[in-house]
Amino acid sequence: AHPTLTPPAFTSRVVPVIVITDVAQAVPLAQALLDGGVDVMEITLRHAAGLPAIEAVARAVPQMHVGAGTVTRADEVRRVKDAGASFALSPGMTDALVQAAFDAELPFMPGVMTPGEVMRARDHGFRLVKLFPAEQAGGLGMLKALGGPLGDMRFCPTGGVSVDNMGAFLRLPNVAMVGGSWLTPVALLEAGRWDEVTRLARAAMGIAADVAS
Ligand code: 3PG
Repeated sequence: AHPTLTPPAFTSRVVPVIVITDVAQAVPLAQALLDGGVDVMEITLRHAAGLPAIEAVARAVPQMHVGAGTVTRADEVRRVKDAGASFALSPGMTDALVQAAFDAELPFMPGVMTPGEVMRARDHGFRLVKLFPAEQAGGLGMLKALGGPLGDMRFCPTGGVSVDNMGAFLRLPNVAMVGGSWLTPVALLEAGRWDEVTRLARAAMGIAADVAS
């Protein structure tokens, strides 16, 4: 398959969605997540520090799979790839964005929220997509309903996922992984409370392990 269609090879089934407000947070955060067993980060472009943060983690923490999140414009695809992102995610999907990901050969997870959007993503060749915003789209019931007619598609529900419901999402056969911001609250990152991030990561990994057993 084309590299753009090939999901990155991280092991964590929880993808932390991160807003970094100061590039100095990036490397200690990556280390704190790794200490908790999480080998993937979605660093969003929602703050100007996002792009340099991707660059810092890609350079200094090779064990971490660093993805770029909130990629909504085609020109951002080349920039996050050049910064060292190993994949990109988007809350949605446009033809321009998909084309840019193919041109850059960057693994990409488009966002979808309706059956038609899932089908458009599949037409492009994608089998793994982000359901966003997952809770507002119908959450567990929506994913169960999509599993009937579109059973060959796998999802990363994001938006409204928490420590309390992540297990239920991961138990669904069409859920490959979940995403969420609860592991990395901005206030914790700004306070440098890395032990607390590690604790949240460990707790999430424990739930994921329970689901798998
Ligand atoms: C976001 O919109 O920030 C992400 O999708 C994460 O959503 P969450 O804050 O509900 O986890």
